[in-house]
Amino acid sequence: GKKKEFSQVNGIILQKKTCDFWNKIWNFQAKPDDLLIASYPKAGTTWTQEIVDLIQNDGDIEKSRRASIQLRHPFLEWIRMTHCPRPEKRNPKDNLVSYYHFQRMNKALPDPGSWDEYFETFLAGNVVWGSWFDHVKGWWKKKDSHPILYLFYEDMRKDPKREIRKIMEFLGKNLKEEILDKIVYNTSFDVMKRNPMTNYINEIKMNHNLSPFLRKGVVGDWKNQFTEAQNKQFNEYHEKNMADTSLSFCMGLK
Ligand code: A3P
Repeated sequence: GKKKEFSQVNGIILQKKTCDFWNKIWNFQAKPDDLLIASYPKAGTTWTQEIVDLIQNDGDIEKSRRASIQLRHPFLEWIRMTHCPRPEKRNPKDNLVSYYHFQRMNKALPDPGSWDEYFETFLAGNVVWGSWFDHVKGWWKKKDSHPILYLFYEDMRKDPKREIRKIMEFLGKNLKEEILDKIVYNTSFDVMKRNPMTNYINEIKMNHNLSPFLRKGVVGDWKNQFTEAQNKQFNEYHEKNMADTSLSFCMGLK
């Protein structure tokens, strides 16, 4: 039954409703001050959305708690939105593990199958919204010709305040240190996990008992999931597919 909810555009698997609206999405005209968060699924979209919202509301958490995150930042595929790019990227190994658990818990997405099966599906790029490799390389190529702030999940984990300040400057805002500190606190993993407006707790399509939406929020969790053989296979594939780009990722400690 689930299969017919998905279709393809240019070889990329997308939700059927996205394909139906594809012309509208493709022809979408952004205004100069629109903002687009162009993330690969599970790269930290929600985290970035909450940071942006808090910066735009001068750190006022009450304002950012006015509605759930999907309503405050509608997805372009849902056509309610607008926006200019700010991609968020995450190393592919952690991204893969996070996506696997997300597909387990989200009834709106295909069943991922076993971990071993999903590993192959992800490498082949046969996941909804397409190949991680094509996505990250595509945006990297555009970053010098467009007003793009390219962010990395690993940097945000390492020094959230520095990265939040970058986002603030990109947005043309100048907030006081104490407000920045408040934003760092309110967008930390634990606070966002407890916040019903950011943790998707009321999303009926998600079964948080299978795997919570804010699951672990760390760098290097892939080491708990990958076998030695999978790691070797992944490294070979990664090297081959990233040979034509200057883009590189931090996979965490060895
Ligand atoms: P894990 O599954 O590895 O825990 P997206 O919002 O693009 O779907 O990404 C979700 C991933 O970002 C999840 O990763 C989630 O835990 C993580 N995440 C969300 N908010 C976070 C935060 N404030 N700090 C660190 N990680 C966060």
